[in-house]
Amino acid sequence: MTENLKTPARYTITAALPYTNGPIHIGHLAGVYVPADIYARYQRLLGKDVAFVCGSDEHGVAISMKAKKEGVTPKDVIDKYHAIIKKSFEDFGISFDNYSRTSAEVHHETASGFFVKLYGQGDFIEETTAQLYDQEANQFLADRFVVGTCPKCGHEEAYGDQCENCGSTLNATDLINPKSTITGAVPTLKETKHWFLPLDRYEDFLKEWILEGHKKDWKPNVYGQCKSWIDDGLKPRAVTRDLDWGIPVPVKGGEGKVLYVWFDAPIGYISSTKEWAAREGKDWEPYWKDENTKLLHFIGKDNIVFHCIIFPSILKAHGDYILPDNVPANEFLNLEGNKLSTSKNWAVWLHEYLDEFPDMQDVLRYTLTANAPETKDNDFTWKDFQARNNNELVAIFGNFINRVVVLTHKYYNGQVPAPGQLSQVDQETLEALSGYPDLISSSIERYRFREASQELMNLARLGNKYLADEEPWKVIKQDEERVKTIMFVALQIATGLAVLSEPFLPFTADKLKQILAMGSSTTETSWAAIGTKDVLLPPDHQINKAELLFRKVEDQEIQAQLDKLEATKKTNEQMNKEVEPQKDTITFDDFSKLDMRVGTIIEAEKMPKAKKLLVLKVDTGLDTRTIVSGIAESFTPEEIVGKKVTVLVNLAPRALRGVESEGMILMTENADGKLVFINPDEDGVDNGFTIN
Ligand code: 2FM
Ligand code: ZN
Repeated sequence: MTENLKTPARYTITAALPYTNGPIHIGHLAGVYVPADIYARYQRLLGKDVAFVCGSDEHGVAISMKAKKEGVTPKDVIDKYHAIIKKSFEDFGISFDNYSRTSAEVHHETASGFFVKLYGQGDFIEETTAQLYDQEANQFLADRFVVGTCPKCGHEEAYGDQCENCGSTLNATDLINPKSTITGAVPTLKETKHWFLPLDRYEDFLKEWILEGHKKDWKPNVYGQCKSWIDDGLKPRAVTRDLDWGIPVPVKGGEGKVLYVWFDAPIGYISSTKEWAAREGKDWEPYWKDENTKLLHFIGKDNIVFHCIIFPSILKAHGDYILPDNVPANEFLNLEGNKLSTSKNWAVWLHEYLDEFPDMQDVLRYTLTANAPETKDNDFTWKDFQARNNNELVAIFGNFINRVVVLTHKYYNGQVPAPGQLSQVDQETLEALSGYPDLISSSIERYRFREASQELMNLARLGNKYLADEEPWKVIKQDEERVKTIMFVALQIATGLAVLSEPFLPFTADKLKQILAMGSSTTETSWAAIGTKDVLLPPDHQINKAELLFRKVEDQEIQAQLDKLEATKKTNEQMNKEVEPQKDTITFDDFSKLDMRVGTIIEAEKMPKAKKLLVLKVDTGLDTRTIVSGIAESFTPEEIVGKKVTVLVNLAPRALRGVESEGMILMTENADGKLVFINPDEDGVDNGFTIN
């Protein structure tokens, strides 16, 4: 609450370190990286001292599992995805001051240093306890290596560290009916020593700091989650693991063990700041230790407990560090009605989007911001993407700028005209314009990025309405002087858009500043100067030619994306299909008793009053016989006459609805559950030939 009373000397802005077990998708962008980037760009624009840091989260079970699945080393996995992620962030315009990785030496040193300091201060409990162990894999099971039923909500797929259904943090031994995700085995219990952070010792501190100190300024979803954890009573939490991938436990007795990934990952923000400061010749410490620094963690809702309870307790225990002012966590984004999923490939991948929609970074940024999951889960749809682009960016923003620039060239060869007497509408319009910087600032400062993006679009609407009402293209015929004033006012709105859009649409803002030839005139004073007497585009200023800021997105582009998702859905359905377990073994003699022949269906008709049955006449090469087959829901009689089929001819005859059936047609199912013939339709395969 006190945060708004003082102006911070600097901002340390962190964005959740993504796991390097897959590329970045729109859920990550909407939840974390786009809002964090808007905030960082905005503060820089106001001339604030900003360190915006991130990096790859390269330890933990997620990486080991991916490596195991692909038959490669964890290092192969992290190198591959670190490169993809880093490049896609750069290409997308996420303006990190530093993007590091937790395999970096500086991080190993920093995280080990934290552990040693806390260990030395007696801040850990050292305890030998029984932990889950997979005897087939010869490995202890924790975190994502074990699934089971959540003791809190009954969800059957909860992980050893967290239930994604109810959001509870768990210990692996809390799970009911645990099962190893490596071998599927039911784990046994085995004793092992670990270090625990006694979170219960921090209860008073957390109550005072969060429950009393941040009731008003933290988002209700974040505050609510923290309150429920604290009210439930906090328990000691293990900060080491029996794994072979991670940062080795740097104290005696820690051989063969590593730091828990959630102990080391948030410290990665500090390591990344150190790396940046060293490169820039700065001192990193004020960014983490000076009380006059505003520390902010941008994260998704599944990370709240780690950033609001566990990491602050670690920082508090250390003693030298500041705590976050705010943790503006977002809810989740869904895609076309379904939960985004890396493993199910249900996603719009950033690197693929950048390939398929080159130079359209701002369209995705805008769509994700305008529909950001700030207070509840939201859905991304390609139709909404198209509509936001065509109806807002193209039809409102782009259209306004294009008209202003084209008319300025047409009437004044691209020179800003000097205004005459301002009419009441002109004055009201300029006044409205001058209100936008504060409106947008106020939304951004309260982490309401959706609202801020809509205010920006409202400014473009104001410009469009002004031109539509004042109709300079008509007035020019009777009153040339008046048009100078109209165009001057419209150009000031265009300038306002160029400055205010920078945090949201950085590529567009650059292009627009170039068109308006604003150059370096956009300084920190520009934000506040919009719509005031210190006009940013003075009379006689020469602007450049019009260029299209946005292009229309066509229906077929959207259809192509929907088709791609449909194909993913099909693949997933196929993979999910239960393959029936193998039946009991039979001897070769058993098999040779089956007499299967090639045959041809020569007649087919529906069995009266039976939905599923067709009565067939089949030429088996031996004879023509009647076979009753349960295929009427998949085929009409007409379409199967003449079909070559496989027939089991020595099946004992049996009567079906009074018709004796003398054999069986062999069938299987395709991915959609439709029956298909086992069809020996090759040249020279004649009726009566045996199949063996
Ligand atoms: O949930 C995740 O993707 C984690 N890798 C986030 C880590 S945030 C931080 F603490 F590093
Ligand atoms: Zn649960």
